[in-house]
Amino acid sequence: MALSKDKNWWRQAVIYQIYPRSFFDVNGDGLGDIAGITSKIDYLRQLGVDAVWLSPFYPSALADGGYDVDDYRDVDPKLGTLEQFDVMVAGLHDVGIRVFVDIVPNHSSDRHEWFQAALKAGPGSPERERYIFRDGKGENGELPPSDWPSHFAPSAWTRITEADGKPGQWYCHLFAPEQPDFNWDHPEVHEDFKKTLRFWADRGVDGFRIDVAHALKKDMSEPLRSFPKFTDFDNSLSGDDVLFDRNEVHEIYREWRKVFDEYDPPRVAVAEAYVRAERRVLYARPDELGQAFNFDLLSSYFDAGDFRKIIQFNVSLAAGAGSSSTWVLSNHDKVRHATRYGLPRNTDENAWLLTDGKTPVLDVELGIRRARAATLLILGLPGSTYFYQGEELGLHEVADIPADQIQDPQWVRNLFKMKGRDGCRVPLPWEAHAAHFGFSSGGSHLPQPAWFANYAVDVEETDPDSTLNLYRRALTLRKALISGEELTWHGDAHGEILHFDRGNGWHVIANFNGDPIELPDGDVLVSSSPLVDNKLPSATTVWMKIAN
Ligand code: NOJ
Repeated sequence: MALSKDKNWWRQAVIYQIYPRSFFDVNGDGLGDIAGITSKIDYLRQLGVDAVWLSPFYPSALADGGYDVDDYRDVDPKLGTLEQFDVMVAGLHDVGIRVFVDIVPNHSSDRHEWFQAALKAGPGSPERERYIFRDGKGENGELPPSDWPSHFAPSAWTRITEADGKPGQWYCHLFAPEQPDFNWDHPEVHEDFKKTLRFWADRGVDGFRIDVAHALKKDMSEPLRSFPKFTDFDNSLSGDDVLFDRNEVHEIYREWRKVFDEYDPPRVAVAEAYVRAERRVLYARPDELGQAFNFDLLSSYFDAGDFRKIIQFNVSLAAGAGSSSTWVLSNHDKVRHATRYGLPRNTDENAWLLTDGKTPVLDVELGIRRARAATLLILGLPGSTYFYQGEELGLHEVADIPADQIQDPQWVRNLFKMKGRDGCRVPLPWEAHAAHFGFSSGGSHLPQPAWFANYAVDVEETDPDSTLNLYRRALTLRKALISGEELTWHGDAHGEILHFDRGNGWHVIANFNGDPIELPDGDVLVSSSPLVDNKLPSATTVWMKIAN
């Protein structure tokens, strides 16, 4: 199937996020690999996705799951080779699936050749200029240059030992110390990232997911401004905050747009920008990245009012920016949505993980039922859906990873008080009765729980009512149904029912927590859970075709 040249293919695409190290392992080392993705192309084709996005597969010491990149233009030898990457892209393209890769421009790893050169070259050298080095405060430079925090706690500054063995300068890292931040005031940093974008675009990559797109420019004016603590929204609406969402960051993306437009069809991009919605759409402007992740549903509960508000707000915001909205319920950074919806509202997810998932008790079935309803609802919306590997199986979070096997740097950095994100990164179950659930012949880099057997692909494939078959059915139908981007609301704007149509007789009706309701006359195309006496029960979504 040839890929279309339509330059708007992304506006309503369904993109499947692959976390490569946990997808499928061909060489038996317990770590998923590129050849593993290639061998599952048929699975992805049957699922019906338009594109896959690969989280980082670059050489990395895995201090942060691969978001600590040693070399932006290579494949980690543990995961494969560039030749294998090319085979994968060609195979995916052959079945009509496009490919996004993850670009991590805020920071490299501390093993990157530029950072290693900076360490050797000494204070004041041109090599140090490509990162953010500063002298410390205090009599002997023993205090960090500012109060800036790291996302992974505590400080964003780490002091190095200079070549002569003496304590030396400090460098800035908004994440782990193994992730030094680039200095985006440096022209070589700009040039190098454009080279990276072209490198992958030349290999046929269709799109880019931009990691922490809002953080690249900091206010480096001296004395450094104070920014002691992250809050839910780190930024105001001013564009003049210290570390995030500064107005100048958009210059970078306007430069990148010129690179994207060198290709036919133009390469596309999506910003990961944890900023206020009003500012998020700036990243999605047509002369910048084109699209930005809308994470509002990622951090909300299964609640009709919240969904309605978020949908209405984001559809109009995206349209105003000349983009289309995106919808995300799960990703590699967040407790899976089946689990979030199966826990009581306002559960502190970290506290729950610290009890190994024992308190409060998770309602496994309710969580899945709600997750299926939410997924069918967002797949009916105008815009793109980004979903995360394993959610098509209805997987729950793995909450009981033993302390000595936790990989997330947040665990150590927060002095063992934050388990972090490993629970959604456990390798997928492919076969219920095979070793490592068919993920690998040799092991699994994170432990898989026994209950994974119930969710294995081979089990779900044979069950017509499985979550996997629901996703397959919905994605096939969606391809046939989707046309324009309009959405018209029906019914009560405050109750438990959300009902809209898409202008061509395609209606989406969701009952969140209400009593069963009669459905309008028409054909039910797909239902997230069975109807009861022909009525739509709670935690259920249907798609209908209704004559106008
Ligand atoms: C966002 C990524 O999604 C996350 O996994 C990573 O830890 C940080 N950015 C740092 O790169």
